[in-house]
Amino acid sequence: MSSKIRIGIDTPDAWDAEWARWFERYSRGIPRLGMWLTRAYATSGCDLLELGAGSGRESRFLAPYARSVTCVDFSAGAMEALRASSPPPNLRALTMDALHLEFPDRAFDLTFHKGFWSCFGDDVQVARLFSEQLRVTRRTMLALVHNGANAAFHAMFQAKAETDKLYQVRFFKPDELLELAHEGLAKAGVRGSVRLHGFGGVDWMHQGLGARFPASVQGSLAALAYRLRPLRVAESLVLEVTPDPHKKK
Ligand SMILES: C[S@@+](CC[C@H](N)C(=O)[O-])C[C@H]1O[C@@H](n2cnc3c(N)ncnc32)[C@H](O)[C@@H]1O
Repeated sequence: MSSKIRIGIDTPDAWDAEWARWFERYSRGIPRLGMWLTRAYATSGCDLLELGAGSGRESRFLAPYARSVTCVDFSAGAMEALRASSPPPNLRALTMDALHLEFPDRAFDLTFHKGFWSCFGDDVQVARLFSEQLRVTRRTMLALVHNGANAAFHAMFQAKAETDKLYQVRFFKPDELLELAHEGLAKAGVRGSVRLHGFGGVDWMHQGLGARFPASVQGSLAALAYRLRPLRVAESLVLEVTPDPHKKK
């Protein structure tokens, strides 16, 4: 099944070209993920890692709420643009392939990414990305992927993908993600908890009057709203894996 998934942009050079066009505009967007993470995952005092970070918009927002933030992307253009944009002093931007992370085991408290696994049509590569992320995670790893249970959102992407390569991405079904996580934990010989949440899809807390609330209030409202509404209307599925360091299988 995975070999049939068409991915539109899949090399560092191609991503360099995309980021040369979109970096500034994307950076100015609302850091919805950052706001939600600070409220839902208590980031203060943590070392964070964002994979496939691109513009680094979410990490830039998170830096004041964390001990350190590391952005990784294989697009040297994006990482150079991020370093040149006067990021907070505790944010570093590194050009690196997420399939081969140059960090020691359990180097980060919280690791995350959004829209990153959706760039991989090959299950073997996604499994390798899972293993590498798990290896460097001390407390919790999160993967936010395009929600294959949201039929309307998926159809919109499929229509746009006919003419725009940016929309040629992979959507994941909830069961597929759960299987991936359980297989990944088993392969690593690690016990841990696996949960699925939804992210996005109801965004009133960031728009209109909502946008006037402080970021902390917007993040808390998002955490509440995402918990209450069904998974099938979420924009992204959030795979949350919490390895138990004391329990090997
Ligand atoms: C859809 S974009 C994610 C954008 C980012 N989350 C943001 O909000 O700006 C996917 C990103 O993954 C990066 N990427 C793709 N394959 C990669 C790999 N093997 N290692 C590191 N980064 C990769 C791309 O360069 C691109 O910036």
